[in-house]
Amino acid sequence: MFELDGRTALVTGAGQGVGAEIARVLAAHGAAVGINDLYAERAAAVIDEIRAAGGRAAPAIADVGDHAAVGRAVEALTAELGDIDILVNNAGLPVGEGFVIRPFERTDPDVWEPWLRVSLYGALHCSRAVVAGMRERGWGRIITISSDAGLEGTPDLVAYSAAKAGVMGMTRALARELGGDGITCNCVALGLMERDEYAPEFPLEEALRGYSIPRMGRASDVAPAVLYIASEEASWVTGQVFAVNGGANVVR
Ligand SMILES: NC(=O)c1ccc[n+]([C@@H]2O[C@H](COP(=O)([O-])OP(=O)(O)OC[C@H]3O[C@@H](n4cnc5c(N)ncnc54)[C@H](O)[C@@H]3O)[C@@H](O)[C@H]2O)c1
Repeated sequence: MFELDGRTALVTGAGQGVGAEIARVLAAHGAAVGINDLYAERAAAVIDEIRAAGGRAAPAIADVGDHAAVGRAVEALTAELGDIDILVNNAGLPVGEGFVIRPFERTDPDVWEPWLRVSLYGALHCSRAVVAGMRERGWGRIITISSDAGLEGTPDLVAYSAAKAGVMGMTRALARELGGDGITCNCVALGLMERDEYAPEFPLEEALRGYSIPRMGRASDVAPAVLYIASEEASWVTGQVFAVNGGANVVR
């Protein structure tokens, strides 16, 4: 079960964190994996790890918010690893200056734009780049990492919440549009994940209070869910949002 031999995957934002673990797990189950990130050195480190473990991987460096750059990266990756069967839209948090957590009334389009650009437009651009090929071959998986922010809304992260709810809408519409072509489209919605650091203003303790399982999530909690959805065994599962979130939205 859950073998991906002969499949090619592209995981966005796979240079670290959740995306890196998804890439490692897909590769360990036989997929050749394209490692997308903004930063070539992050992608290279993950590729080295996968190759050292006997897997196949290649870089696909691009800003997912840049339509043309995504097209070029997908073309180059396809030439190197083969047609993309599995897309994991994981890049979702803007880096550096774009990562602004602030009450809505103190935000403007310049604060909203990086969240929408990476989380929503990134998923649209990457899906658009692979969907025609999947349709031609009659098989595909589009898996998009969403968030509790999209399920419930997160205060002070209104644009991020909008983007993460937006990808759920994208997923449901694509699932209906492509279901007859052997392509499934699903989301995995995450709760709070362990990160190296949280911005000092982020109310971490308060956020964890509503969790049935009172700890932050780990990349290793997420990758197996993605593996299942990517597999042949999940061929009758589409248009769904899988919450991997410690039961955060069960108790309220
Ligand atoms: N961290 C959390 O608490 C949390 C909670 C819910 C959902 N999520 C979602 O999980 C996913 C992964 O998050 P993470 O915590 O592993 O993030 P992370 O910041 O640790 O890693 C994300 C990677 O994406 C890359 N990236 C950022 N912008 C990019 C772009 N425009 N193009 C290409 N690559 C880009 C970064 O360089 C980085 O290597 C995201 O979709 C995020 O929204 C995270």
